[in-house]
Amino acid sequence: MELLKKLNYDQTQSLNAEMTNRKSIPSPKHLITTQNMSLIDLDNYFFRADKMQALVKEKGGDDRLKHKVLALAFYEPSTRTSCSFQAAMLRLGGSTIFINDTFSSVKKGETLEDTIKTLGIYADAIVLRHPIKGSSKKAAEVSEKPIINAGDGEGEHPTQALLDVYTIYKEMRGNMQGITISFVGDLKYSRTVHSLVKLVALFSDIKIIFVNPPGLEIPSDIIDFLHIKGVQPEYTTMNNAIEVTDVLYMTRIQRERITEDIVVDTTLYRLDQDLMKRAKQKMIVMHPLPRNDEISVEIDDDPRAAYFRQMEYGLYIRMVLLESILTKTATS
Ligand code: NCD
Repeated sequence: MELLKKLNYDQTQSLNAEMTNRKSIPSPKHLITTQNMSLIDLDNYFFRADKMQALVKEKGGDDRLKHKVLALAFYEPSTRTSCSFQAAMLRLGGSTIFINDTFSSVKKGETLEDTIKTLGIYADAIVLRHPIKGSSKKAAEVSEKPIINAGDGEGEHPTQALLDVYTIYKEMRGNMQGITISFVGDLKYSRTVHSLVKLVALFSDIKIIFVNPPGLEIPSDIIDFLHIKGVQPEYTTMNNAIEVTDVLYMTRIQRERITEDIVVDTTLYRLDQDLMKRAKQKMIVMHPLPRNDEISVEIDDDPRAAYFRQMEYGLYIRMVLLESILTKTATS
């Protein structure tokens, strides 16, 4: 209950015995969005991710997902998401099959629905990355097997958001109450931001700052979600945000998605050593990666640069997710 205590969560609200003793974690059939997740869910994910870390460090893994098969259908490029899902599966004794849109029947015009039904015959769950927003939801509607959204166009990227929020939790040593999180860059098309904002909005007294080029504002439905949660975001510049920020979440400009005629002055959304000198000593810098030039490589050696550690946290979170989705009741 560490997270809940640290955030002064009113435990009488809705805790049930099963969740409090962490004998099981919420095991939704599909994972499409972070919209309905709660602090209790996060507390459980974090508790289990810590255990996965210990397992990997001590033994490399185990066989709890032996004979389980995970299908990865990636219709967009990926390095971290696809590799970490595969590594998570292998470390738990399971196997993976992989398709992309170039070397599969997608190339011959097969519909998403038919591909999903096909993969469901061979695999126990399907991880889908697709360039069109809403495609994971569409896949879930026809799939007998759990669908895990690994990024649907400019929509959401819930597993990245879980690893991002776990990174914040670990790096801040659980002290997230009243922190300021600044999101910088292309907030219109960065699906990782869309999913993460919904999770950090659960923290008490959170302050959210958005720093984005004109025309690349965060979508209005996410602002509406924040308002419902009682969070009023601020909009400002890097210069103004840097000194008050505890978590700086950088993103690249998603050029492959931008359809508007927008010219971005990238120097205004770039983190360099001068800005780092003005930042808090305990600030952390995050980035879902890949980066372009929005974080100067000179910052990589700064202990505040958390973006490579972020990837490692992702492995443990994805191990937890796979265990929860592929086994009915994950016991500790
Ligand atoms: C991101 C993605 O694919 O949305 N990367 C990731 O999954 N780690 C970020 C991006 O492409 O900019």
